[in-house]
Amino acid sequence: MRKKIVAGNWKMNLNKNDSEDLVNNILNHLDDNFSPQIIFAPPYLFLNNVIELCKNKNNIFVSSQDCSAYTDGAFTGEVSAKMISSYDISHVIIGHSERRKNFNETNDILNHKINQAINNHLNVIFCCGETLSDRNNGLYFDVISDQLLSTVLSLDKSKFSNIIIAYEPIWAIGTGVTATADQAQEVHAHIRRIIKDKYGDAISNKTSIIYGGSCKPANAKEIFSQDDIDGGLIGGASLNYKDFISIIKAF
Ligand code: 13P
Repeated sequence: MRKKIVAGNWKMNLNKNDSEDLVNNILNHLDDNFSPQIIFAPPYLFLNNVIELCKNKNNIFVSSQDCSAYTDGAFTGEVSAKMISSYDISHVIIGHSERRKNFNETNDILNHKINQAINNHLNVIFCCGETLSDRNNGLYFDVISDQLLSTVLSLDKSKFSNIIIAYEPIWAIGTGVTATADQAQEVHAHIRRIIKDKYGDAISNKTSIIYGGSCKPANAKEIFSQDDIDGGLIGGASLNYKDFISIIKAF
């Protein structure tokens, strides 16, 4: 049975007080038996506060939004995977399109980050997704295959078990335009197929593949009901506790 996941990527939003209010509101409004795993991915500065608030809560995890490609040393401003894993942080997001585009993160850099994360026992939420022009030109399967085969799908089988894939079509991120459930399912099935080709049925059936891109209460249920969609990586709607709770309840 694959893990169902609702992860909130706060990006560079909120301040200390807002972030604590958000988590407290979510925790206070969760049903006792909510079904998906919940992952909070706050900015580095707020990680420890979120960890404290989520201490001893079942099925709630904390993720970093990034990690350094380097192990340690003279890299001012960087935060290493080793530092991250010395806190109660279980996941790290790697390969988000905003980092690829705005911070020029190449596959080579991403591979270093993935190795740092794995060496420090972090689960990786690895993002992939096509631009609008890739989609309009019918290139999206190839683009996504290439993004994955050059990175997480070049790992040894034994190292792939802690990878979660997030399909985030770039044209749907922060735009209010969501992929239809059919569009998302088509790509998720493609991703599962290439995982199967590389590592076999058992691993492919076990890998959680989550969707991100303007996922909100109004569309979460339909998206999450697709066969190959195991949850969501939520941006804007994760900053509002009512929306985030509704998305969790969409399972
Ligand atoms: P939005 O939900 O704001 O479109 O962002 C999605 C995303 O980029 C999550 O990582």
